[in-house]
Amino acid sequence: MYNKGTIIPGLAIFVLFVTFPLWFNAFSTASTVPKPELPPGGEKECVASSAEMRASHMVLLNEWRDGVLRDGKRESVTVDGKKYRKGLQMACMQCHTSKEKFCDTCHEYASVDPYCWDCHLTPEVAAIKKETL
Ligand code: HEC
Ligand code: HEC
Ligand code: HEC
Repeated sequence: MYNKGTIIPGLAIFVLFVTFPLWFNAFSTASTVPKPELPPGGEKECVASSAEMRASHMVLLNEWRDGVLRDGKRESVTVDGKKYRKGLQMACMQCHTSKEKFCDTCHEYASVDPYCWDCHLTPEVAAIKKETL
């Protein structure tokens, strides 16, 4: 009745098949948690705590933009004794000097693609423009 020769390999194939999502995840890079690069300039603090920044940097950026453009609030923020003018290129990217190694690592993971860079220059693009002017 039973054929040992097919039951054992059959079971093995079944187990491999059922556990496929587990080992597939272990080997694929799609599930790698992003590692945004810390500021290469050695700055230790952000404009707010890391937890707040992780959770609501998009809200903060909108508040800054509205403040600067609608209410003319161009005041600066002071971090660790140093002044930065409120702005995407002027504050954020002065410490986080690489959009690719910082912002993009998380955004690619989370599948968000902020349209800010349609107009604002990344440090890389700004450097190229300066050279060719
Ligand atoms: C259609 C073009 C455009 C897009 C897209 C855009 N901005 Fe701006 N943004 C501007 C212009 C123009 C200014 C005014 C610059 C000035 O007067 O200093 C500005 C100013 C700002 C400022 C205030 C100071 C400064 O110069 O950085 C912030 C903050 C800002 N934008 C954030 C953002 C963010 C965040 C996004 C994406 C969610 C974004 N912007 C998308 C055009 C744009
Ligand atoms: C004075 C330098 C400086 C400025 C300006 C700055 N940052 Fe930061 N940022 C840091 C440092 C340093 C950390 C890491 C802090 C830590 O690990 O405690 C950080 C952390 C973050 C984090 C969390 C990263 C993580 O790995 O969880 C986000 C998001 C962030 N910043 C976004 C921004 C944005 C957006 C702006 C502009 C509105 C900005 N930062 C302006 C220095 C800065
Ligand atoms: C620690 C991870 C992390 C880092 C670093 C990070 N972001 Fe984000 N960002 C996110 C996540 C996650 C979202 C989506 C949040 C949501 O949809 O609620 C987001 C959303 C945004 C949005 C809103 C986009 C939209 O379509 O709603 C803007 C603007 C933005 N990020 C700007 C930046 C800028 C500029 C930097 C680099 C200076 C940066 N972020 C760095 C994780 C990060």
